[in-house]
Amino acid sequence: MRKRVFVARPIQPSVVDRVAQSCDVEVHPADAPMTPAQFADSIAHSDGLISVGGNVSEEALAHAPKLRVVANIGAGYDTIDVAACTKRRIAVTNTPDVLTESTADFAFALLLAVSRRLFEADRYVREGKWKTGLFSLLWGTELNGKTLGLYGFGRIGQAMARRGRSFGMRVLYHSRHRVAPDLESEAGAQLVSFADLLRESNFLSLHAPLNSGSNLAIGAAQLAEMPAGAFLINTARGKIVDEAALVQALKAGKLAGAGLDVFENEPQIDPALLEMENVVVAPHIASATAEARLRMASLAAENLLALFEGRRPPNILNPEVLG
Ligand code: 8YV
Repeated sequence: MRKRVFVARPIQPSVVDRVAQSCDVEVHPADAPMTPAQFADSIAHSDGLISVGGNVSEEALAHAPKLRVVANIGAGYDTIDVAACTKRRIAVTNTPDVLTESTADFAFALLLAVSRRLFEADRYVREGKWKTGLFSLLWGTELNGKTLGLYGFGRIGQAMARRGRSFGMRVLYHSRHRVAPDLESEAGAQLVSFADLLRESNFLSLHAPLNSGSNLAIGAAQLAEMPAGAFLINTARGKIVDEAALVQALKAGKLAGAGLDVFENEPQIDPALLEMENVVVAPHIASATAEARLRMASLAAENLLALFEGRRPPNILNPEVLG
């Protein structure tokens, strides 16, 4: 009996074709979120779901008695109720590794953009303000010799460390676990306490998953500990940062700027951020390269097919449901 698979967004046809070799596949035609009711309806008869973020809640699962696997396209899985899936013996998988370099590229692009005021410069020229060369024009901040602090030190944090090192930065990290010494020395990064990370970082870049430990970890008290004129870069999850506190720290001039790909209540953004020249914003696209997106979708398909074929999905998050 062929398995029925629902794909929650239009993804690369080659990946759909691969799954369709052995499954009956339905692809949601719009690249937009569904209402909870639409979603519940769509998975009601599915054995497998390929999700792209999106809220996979207990309520939705209650409508999907046949569901055996949720293969998420994305490394983060904070929108999936993994415990509820486990209870129903539904395997959950994600796509780490394959987006590491693209995501770190984008985090570093944000870092460079804010430190060198790239978008201010672009607006300045486009708005016809460039009438003559000015010595005092758009001074930025040099990276060489500055401290890059990494909150979270998984694969993306480590890739960010390598980028920072190649720009002459000192790199510190804080994470729940110390990484193996060879990874530390390859990344050229040193483990410090959270308090030291805040105190020392001229650039603080967030690379932790969202969970109860990281939720709102960067609030007013933490921002107050940072050096004056520091920058915040967030490509992880918006809810790690108290956005109102961030706005206050930027308004007060405590922070010199911020590069943000994710937001506390995205796609809603505090309007004050959008008025600030020293803030660069992006619509949650850090992993969005053609290369990474193809690897992500392919890996999600591989996870899903592995489960159906009785193999261990390479990125199983709740292995207790197997066997
Ligand atoms: C995705 C992400 O864009 O991998 C993640 O955790 O946040 C992004 O790569 C998002 O999850 C949609 O799939």
